[in-house]
Amino acid sequence: MALVALASAKGSPGVTTASLVVGALWPRQVLLSECDPSGSDVAIRMTGPGQTALNPDRGLVSLAAAGRKGIGDEVIMAHSQQLDGGLDVLLGVRAPEQIGGMGGLWAPLGQAFNQMYGSDVLADCGRIGPNSPQLPVLQSAGLVVLVCTATGSSVAHLRERISSLVHHVDAQLGVIVVADPKRRDGVRQVWSVLDQMSTPIQHRWHLALDPAGAAFFDGRGVGRLDRTSLIRTGSVIAAEMAAAVAPRTSTDFDMAQAAFPTNNASYGSAQHAAASYDGTATYEASATTYDSTATYDAGTTTYDAATATDHTAASTSETASTTEASGYTTSDYYGTGTAGTTDTTGTTGEYQQ
Ligand SMILES: Nc1ncnc2c1ncn2[C@@H]1O[C@H](COP(=O)(O)OP(=O)(O)OP(=O)(O)O)[C@@H](O)[C@H]1O
Ligand SMILES: [Mg+2]
Repeated sequence: MALVALASAKGSPGVTTASLVVGALWPRQVLLSECDPSGSDVAIRMTGPGQTALNPDRGLVSLAAAGRKGIGDEVIMAHSQQLDGGLDVLLGVRAPEQIGGMGGLWAPLGQAFNQMYGSDVLADCGRIGPNSPQLPVLQSAGLVVLVCTATGSSVAHLRERISSLVHHVDAQLGVIVVADPKRRDGVRQVWSVLDQMSTPIQHRWHLALDPAGAAFFDGRGVGRLDRTSLIRTGSVIAAEMAAAVAPRTSTDFDMAQAAFPTNNASYGSAQHAAASYDGTATYEASATTYDSTATYDAGTTTYDAATATDHTAASTSETASTTEASGYTTSDYYGTGTAGTTDTTGTTGEYQQ
């Protein structure tokens, strides 16, 4: 199906958090793969079903050892694990020292991700530079998304990285700005800087800077995740991003289903068990439930994959906030200031040109 690579130019703007949020809300079967050479954060922050610990030795390194003769869906999924809530993850290396064990497998790995029959793949590629070993994963992606904050230095490094990357990748480009929902000017200023670049950025998204929401993806969540601005903005990003890389024709999708008909059953994913294609260009994904310290129900998200413009979300009463995915666009959405959206960190001053 599709490979989306997420990365940053510098700093820690929230690539891993964005990957987890978007993965949890993805409307099709999806695997989150940690391809950050600096080491896995998901193994430390997240838990498996029933809050059991994840196995840090099962992931990219064990896959590399097992996949020297070829990497396909089955070997990838055999080295993946499920998070509490159902998202499939392929854990990254424990430490940068393990990167040597990957050898020359980054390129075949990227190709295998891009060609998975049963699942889209979101690759958290961490910080990316011209000599990054994981660059081949970005080169296999259909969409490369760079994450930044609305600060002058973050945007300056983003510009530099885009200018360089464009010579190495042949993919759609997107940018996620992590910014306080109340500070819309900062986001607009980032877009105006990108407008001045010769490289077209096809997709622009705003993910809320929301410490309370982000805490759920850092193993510290308290309260209701579904009410957070992180989830509200993340829902829009997940729907639009998935539409941007959706199979273009029913034939493509039917071929994938025919070749890999039992993906949901064999992986036991609670996340997208109801994924179906009904011939009218409508994909439906089942609910995603996080039940560690709080529960949210992402509800049933339906979108028109053919036009990629008609996003609606029919949700249960628990998810009133996610129904707001209908009728607004990323560019005009700025949260309503729910608890936790206040910028208490002081780290995201608005970007001033
Ligand atoms: N949208 C957000 N709102 C508030 N806090 C966030 C958000 N995204 C990330 N954070 C916080 O910022 C810190 C870094 O986040 P994260 O690990 O996702 O960044 P990263 O870009 O993946 O960093 P690295 O390059 O080091 O892997 C974490 O403490 C996380 O909780
Ligand atoms: Mg990270």
